[in-house]
Amino acid sequence: MEKISVKNARDESSIGKTGKLQGWVRTRRDSKAGFSFIEINDGSSQGNIQIIAPADLENYESEIKRLTAGCSISAEGEIKESGGRGQKTEMQAAQISVHGWADPDEYPLQKKRHSMEKLREWAHLRPRTNTFGAVARVRNCICNSIHQFYQEQGFLYINTPIITASDCEGAGEMFQVTTMKMDQIAKQQIENLNYKFDFFDKPAYLTVSGQLAAETYACALGKVYTFGPTFRAENSNTSRHLAEFWMVEPEVAFNDLDDNMDLAESFLKRIFTDALEKCGQDMEFFNERIDQEKTLIKRLEAIINTEFVRLPYTEAVEILESSGQKFDFPVKWGIDLQSEHERFLTEKHFEKPVILFDYPNTIKPFYMYCNDDDKTVRAMDVLVPGVGEIIGGSQREHRLDVLESRMKAQDLDIEEYWWYADLRRYGTVPHAGFGLGLERAVQFVTSIGNIRDVIPFPRTPGNAEF
Ligand code: 4AD
Ligand code: MG
Repeated sequence: MEKISVKNARDESSIGKTGKLQGWVRTRRDSKAGFSFIEINDGSSQGNIQIIAPADLENYESEIKRLTAGCSISAEGEIKESGGRGQKTEMQAAQISVHGWADPDEYPLQKKRHSMEKLREWAHLRPRTNTFGAVARVRNCICNSIHQFYQEQGFLYINTPIITASDCEGAGEMFQVTTMKMDQIAKQQIENLNYKFDFFDKPAYLTVSGQLAAETYACALGKVYTFGPTFRAENSNTSRHLAEFWMVEPEVAFNDLDDNMDLAESFLKRIFTDALEKCGQDMEFFNERIDQEKTLIKRLEAIINTEFVRLPYTEAVEILESSGQKFDFPVKWGIDLQSEHERFLTEKHFEKPVILFDYPNTIKPFYMYCNDDDKTVRAMDVLVPGVGEIIGGSQREHRLDVLESRMKAQDLDIEEYWWYADLRRYGTVPHAGFGLGLERAVQFVTSIGNIRDVIPFPRTPGNAEF
């Protein structure tokens, strides 16, 4: 018998079809007229489908009347027009079989609403809720948009390493990767570790970004992007930071910072457009049930149709200084902007996405292109209301001598980066790229407040459960 997804069964075009629906029970109601309504969901859509179970089913008394939230069933029958409110179709079941029971005294996802914090403790079951089903579908849609956006423009998808021996940014805390046994090392109180005994013969880490490797391919193939997991061991317990997150990083040869800003802006707009077009029902759900102002869809539509502000760091500092706003971190030229400053700019002052660029060279990594003023580098951050920084990127320094002097200034070992320097030694070209944090993008599109709720199993300080 043909399987029908709940999503398809909910559509009027399925009326008259006979087939099999399979999923997890959300609710069961018994009517006085002697039959039951069973609502199931299978993850294919936000909405459930109602199955009418007549009393003459052979297992009606023995099983159907015992069904509770979380039980899994298969139902065979015909899809019919429904008289019920909020649904166009329902199934008249001819047969229902139960795959698995869910003890109502133990199953955590009962009808009552649970807090997001509580649901994190049940991260293995939370995808069965409306909210987490919707997040999973929108996240999937965004990943698909990312690939489509770049593929349509001829970018090559490359896979950069996850284990790396170079600290790609010269900044950012890294997780070390080793096969040495920590407990034995501790027992023997070894003071000077010899990495000759470790797997890679030298210290190795989980990558914080695929950028440097992506640059090598951009400087051969023109337009590339890498999209994978990245890791940061910063001890920041915020609603915007994960220890393991996904980043998409395009890198383009012969591009400068203006091209880079154009690419970032059109990329974000594409993601937002696709989410609205392809996940209509889920986006309605976020708009009504998650967004505090219930204006999420309107805001996204406005952003798609607006030009992002492009503002040099120096002007941003002037705006902040003369804003009359009290900040926890005082503002002066040269500071690394804090999220309170970024959010003031994008949420209060401009009320739309802002691309800040040309940051002081003292607060940015060695690889960014140095401006002629000798004080700033061609860095950019894209800030959006509600989330703050969603993209970070730059034009890269392609002049070997400037790169080397920047590395010296930042106390980096030039020898370690010999291959990175080679790109500047042989056929160097201007190039630029950026990184979009996937989870920050999902947060922005869904208006989910905490980043831990837009990734299936969040990794944060003290938490690697599941
Ligand atoms: O600004 P970041 O650190 O930039 C880079 O890593 C560059 N190498 C990218 C490039 O030019 N190819 O990180 C890029 C983005 C941030 O804007 C943010 O969206 C996200 O990655 N991000 C995080 N997301 C979740 N948890 C964290 N701890 C994050 N750190 C950065
Ligand atoms: Mg950044």
